[in-house]
Amino acid sequence: MFKIRDIPIDPPLILAPVAGYTDTLFRQAVKGLGGCGLVVSELVSTEGMTRNQDQSFHLARFEEAERPVSIQIFGSDPGRMAESAAMVQQMGADIVDINLGCPVKKVVRQGGGSNLLRDLPLLRQIFTAVRAAVSMPLTVKIRAGWDRNSINAVEVLKLAEDCGVEALAIHGRTRCDMFSGQADWSVIALVKENARIPIMGNGDVFTPVDAERMFRETHVDGVMIGRGVLANPWLLRQCHDHLSGNPTSAVSQRDKAQFMMRFLDRIRSEVPEPVALGKMKKMGGYLSKGIPGGAKLREQLHSAHSTDELLSALSNFFSELFQRVPS
Ligand SMILES: Cc1cc2nc3c(=O)[nH]c(=O)nc-3n(C[C@H](O)[C@H](O)[C@H](O)COP(=O)(O)O)c2cc1C
Repeated sequence: MFKIRDIPIDPPLILAPVAGYTDTLFRQAVKGLGGCGLVVSELVSTEGMTRNQDQSFHLARFEEAERPVSIQIFGSDPGRMAESAAMVQQMGADIVDINLGCPVKKVVRQGGGSNLLRDLPLLRQIFTAVRAAVSMPLTVKIRAGWDRNSINAVEVLKLAEDCGVEALAIHGRTRCDMFSGQADWSVIALVKENARIPIMGNGDVFTPVDAERMFRETHVDGVMIGRGVLANPWLLRQCHDHLSGNPTSAVSQRDKAQFMMRFLDRIRSEVPEPVALGKMKKMGGYLSKGIPGGAKLREQLHSAHSTDELLSALSNFFSELFQRVPS
């Protein structure tokens, strides 16, 4: 357990923000499985929020069951960042987080996300403006630096601490690495060594043993996991079991099937049809990882023309699977 100001992050295992995936429905589902001390929203545009765009407010919505919940904002205009952070506070979230890691062109071209790692004067203005605008806990999520020749995570940490940021999550890749290669955990360890605030380590934790190794090798306060949880929503709980010295919760193919059916059905019932279909395909793509015949299932999901068709393909697939492989 560690605390972000007075908020206990217990267990110290965090669901990472993953745009397009970790919406309120997925966060609630993961939280319900246990082992998750904090959830972070997908990145929300401060341009969108301050221009009153519904889509941005939609991305920022959360339910009580998710608490503690952190809402992540991105942008490059200090005034709009401050205004959006104040809106997040008004919405009653527990933490506001600033995205300094997003590598995608659309975000970087507008000066936000990981682009700010190479403009520290602007970053200082943003931190100062946001800090002055909210009394709630403020955190940031960064990458190691812009590229391998400009790793400046410790400098960003010091700037953040100076400006009143209260915790920092670091993904051990640079912007230019995108998602290639391996996350460099030695940068995470260096940041932790130099930090006065709690540090969350992130990147390439896919098993409970990976999580244990990240704690051991970097001494971080918390471990944040993204893609591993999309493929295995029980991963945080399994990490918690393992770190507490207990046997790891077993998850059968039937558990996975049931989770997938229920979760995709919930998307259908809460999201309008065309959006739901796209979301169900995306989520189904990750959730079917590790299921025998998963590649065939992904093809079927991908070619579905409606949410009904998708759910019946899923149901047929699992009935056939359990006839062949009783579990
Ligand atoms: C599709 C995708 C979307 C992502 N969206 C966000 C985001 O909205 N905000 C953010 O800070 N990081 C985002 N990330 C980065 C993850 O939070 C995380 O740092 C990264 O995936 C490494 O952790 P992992 O190896 O546990 O997945 C995204 C990653 C992926 C693959």
